[in-house]
Amino acid sequence: MPPFEELRVFSGTAHGELARSICDYLGIPPGEVNVFKFANDNTFVQFGENIRQRDVFLVQPFCYPVNDKIMELLIMVDAAKRASAGRITAVIPYYAYGRTDKKDQPRVPITARLVADLLTTAGADRVLTTDLHAGQIQGFFNIPVDELTALPILARYIAEKELVDTVVVAADIGATKRARNMASRLDSPLAIMEKRRMGNNDRIETLNVIGDVGGKTAIIVDDEIDTGGSLVSTAKVLEARGATELYACCTHGVLSAGAVDRVAASNLKELVITDTLPMADGKRHPKITVLSVAPLLGEAIHRIHSGLSVGAMFEP
Ligand code: R5P
Repeated sequence: MPPFEELRVFSGTAHGELARSICDYLGIPPGEVNVFKFANDNTFVQFGENIRQRDVFLVQPFCYPVNDKIMELLIMVDAAKRASAGRITAVIPYYAYGRTDKKDQPRVPITARLVADLLTTAGADRVLTTDLHAGQIQGFFNIPVDELTALPILARYIAEKELVDTVVVAADIGATKRARNMASRLDSPLAIMEKRRMGNNDRIETLNVIGDVGGKTAIIVDDEIDTGGSLVSTAKVLEARGATELYACCTHGVLSAGAVDRVAASNLKELVITDTLPMADGKRHPKITVLSVAPLLGEAIHRIHSGLSVGAMFEP
């Protein structure tokens, strides 16, 4: 017997398609909720069904416009709490502000922590998310956080290509753990890109490849592609070091303005991302493959609701 009453999944305005696919996986209809803005730009939320004592999951990746989507989720949590939901889980497939996770310059914020505090204060009981920029962000919350990884989905897709003589390349030192995981799944050697970012703008300077990529098919691994600057420079350097074919796997396709054009014009053969974020038509491109995390999130929601292990999903 699940510890909480009926499971209900609701979507904010960020990514209805993903929420619907999650509901399809779970075999339940999407929950009824009305989320809109008044003329004065104030967001309003009303649940269209009784959620008293229900196990409520609110799906909202933090996509563009990020601050609006965050505020919307906070208001949804508040509305659910005031409607006497039994338990509220914020399902955040992409946690924006993850890169602002430390005070590494004078007089700067730790916004990833601020957002965690806001969610907790609003009344979220748990968080379910995917591939945080840094795992330590889990510790910014004083409520349980289940962090899933899309790496097995990306690795399975690449494995099916049966590429030969591959090397997995961590896009930067921070991506090393992810890349090592991918390398062991593909039975490939590992290389690491040493990358330096110049100041707070999006310009990066790629410096050095640690490891041998000459004559190999390189599979670059990163948590997200935002402007595409890091990925495209990484691909250039790898080609200069003798890599023959270039693939890239990133869980989150943020794809800010100009990113798709950068990928299109690059030497990358294929960029593989997932649907943690919505893909507007302008972001679609034949070089970009999108895999779905709906079954991953759906299974995790089923397990959280039923009191089953989520970690067991990732055991070999
Ligand atoms: C940064 O540390 C991240 O892991 C990604 O490398 C970064 O977010 C990519 O950003 P962009 O695509 O703008 O270079």
